Amino acid sequence: MRKVDIFDTTLRDGEQSPGVNLSQEEKVEIALQLERLGVDVIEAGFAAASRGDFNSVKRVAQTVKRPKVVSLSRTVKKDIDAAWEALKDAENPRLHIFIATSPIHRQYKLRMSKEQVLDNAREALAYAKQFFSEIEFSAEDAGRTELDFLVEVADMAIKSGAIVLNLPDTVGYLSPEEYAHIFKYVSEKVPDIDKITLSAHCHDDLGMAVANSLAAIEAGVGQIEGTINGIGERAGNAAIEEVALALNTRKDYYSAMTGLNLKEIARTSRLVSKLTGMFVPGNKAVVGANAFAHESGIHQDGMLKNSTTYEIMRPETIGLSQSNLVLGKHSGRHAFRDKLRNMGYQLNDEQVNKLFERFKDLADRKKTINDEDLIALVEERWGEP
Ligand code: KIV
Ligand code: ZN
Repeated sequence: MRKVDIFDTTLRDGEQSPGVNLSQEEKVEIALQLERLGVDVIEAGFAAASRGDFNSVKRVAQTVKRPKVVSLSRTVKKDIDAAWEALKDAENPRLHIFIATSPIHRQYKLRMSKEQVLDNAREALAYAKQFFSEIEFSAEDAGRTELDFLVEVADMAIKSGAIVLNLPDTVGYLSPEEYAHIFKYVSEKVPDIDKITLSAHCHDDLGMAVANSLAAIEAGVGQIEGTINGIGERAGNAAIEEVALALNTRKDYYSAMTGLNLKEIARTSRLVSKLTGMFVPGNKAVVGANAFAHESGIHQDGMLKNSTTYEIMRPETIGLSQSNLVLGKHSGRHAFRDKLRNMGYQLNDEQVNKLFERFKDLADRKKTINDEDLIALVEERWGEP
């Protein structure tokens, strides 16, 4: 099976989440955990953005060993200089240079013609080549760029020495089919496209960042960009853990896999949530607190008979110890008996039946029943077991 590289931008696009501001120490801690997770590339920041960002990129570059370390840069000399200064000590430095290509960005933001965009990028790439042997070029807002102009941009980037070409859906606008079409079109029309790696970078404005990333993989990209827990600008970026688990769970369907150490996913998610202060919703795919929790009696009964009835992935795969059968008003007798047994109570059928009625009354009043509630229920009736 083909391997796709994972480019993690938690420390750059992820940190662009409103309200998030990571210290240098926090960035290094996350970078080391990303290295344990096995990501291929870490975008450590935007060195020219501030002194703090510069120092963080430098510290990450000096600390991690195996992953490539990247700084973002506009197509301007001072950004390239700052990126090189911050990255020159890295084992594997990469420059990530971008310019917007869509008509909306050309007209309102850059006030540049197509030719000016091409010339500007060509010149910046030539300058960057003096320092960096590895350059990724991004056509910002590629998703809303004319296809034929994207072909020209891609051709210019390859001829100017980029070895990775990223075509981002910057504003999370596209459907999976449309995004896949862009990669197929560019792959067909651009000579030498097979000499470089194509990369996908998706935002989640319409909730399709992961689906679009998976579609891009099927269209042949060799690198996926995303963040842990899907944090990032506005509605966020593609959640790396979701992309990785989709590929791992549906090996029968997808044609690629990641090289991630999936057992580190839960830990990485918790660390990013703690340090960024960005809470992970309970129902979030893969890493939400409820992703492996079951409340209904029918589901719990199925789970106790065979976990594949209601789980398509095992919690152990992402480094969790077990699924969670939550006791509440929808729970059944089977899960209730099982829970009491695991807590050390040896009760006969009659005792379990009596307690089960009292448990249901309590569950009508209380959203979830925890171990203390169950202890109180048993001991108030029979004393110490
Ligand atoms: O979303 C985007 O287009 C970006 C680029 C800088 C790659 O984050
Ligand atoms: Zn982005």
